[in-house]
Amino acid sequence: MEKSIVIFRGSPRIRGNTNALADIAAACFREEGCRVTEFDLYGMDLRPCTACRECQKDWSKISCRQKDDFEKAAAAVQESDVIILATPVYSWYCTPPMKALLDRMVYAFNMYYGEKRGPSLWEGKAVSLITTCGYPPEKGADLLEEGIRRYCRHSRLRYLGMLCERHMGYRTEFMDDEKRARAVAYAEHLLEMTGLKDL
Ligand SMILES: Cc1cc2nc3c(=O)[nH]c(=O)nc-3n(C[C@H](O)[C@H](O)[C@H](O)COP(=O)(O)O)c2cc1C
Repeated sequence: MEKSIVIFRGSPRIRGNTNALADIAAACFREEGCRVTEFDLYGMDLRPCTACRECQKDWSKISCRQKDDFEKAAAAVQESDVIILATPVYSWYCTPPMKALLDRMVYAFNMYYGEKRGPSLWEGKAVSLITTCGYPPEKGADLLEEGIRRYCRHSRLRYLGMLCERHMGYRTEFMDDEKRARAVAYAEHLLEMTGLKDL
């Protein structure tokens, strides 16, 4: 069966740092024969969760009262084995559309918030982070990673780890051979961990 990876790109800078890393990883995944579906969140209509809890009424399907691009994103998640969250660090967490996506998913996929506690409808899917930040990673991306780690534990998802690179400022070229090599190694490690390499 064809294996599938979904990449959510959460930077407003299409040719920015985070996308430069995501491009390398996506190319590696495709080379290994994975189907890669990608979304540029800043180009989408993704409204914030309003906590109406309509999504909690029917445990047999993923639903949301808000009719926007979340439906497409949720369908891609359902079809995927691995979910990659590619976001720069903004104020020690992710960017606003990535946060909207995370909130919409945590309610729509986890039937925990209705009359009775129900199941996680995406249990077992794998999640990984691709991020960039201005501070050294241990001070710039630590809170984001911890948040995503807990998000995964809460949702019964498998957290696979993070690729994080530091941006030394807009006057410095971000990409170099070392970062490129680490991005390739990250992608290969991810494919090995998820068994997607042995297609
Ligand atoms: C609004 C804003 C907030 C930021 N907040 C942080 C932060 O909290 N910690 C950090 O280390 N870097 C922070 N940065 C730096 C970015 O994470 C960094 O420049 C990143 O590489 C940008 O990625 P991009 O080119 O993919 O958009 C911030 C940048 C912006 C524009």
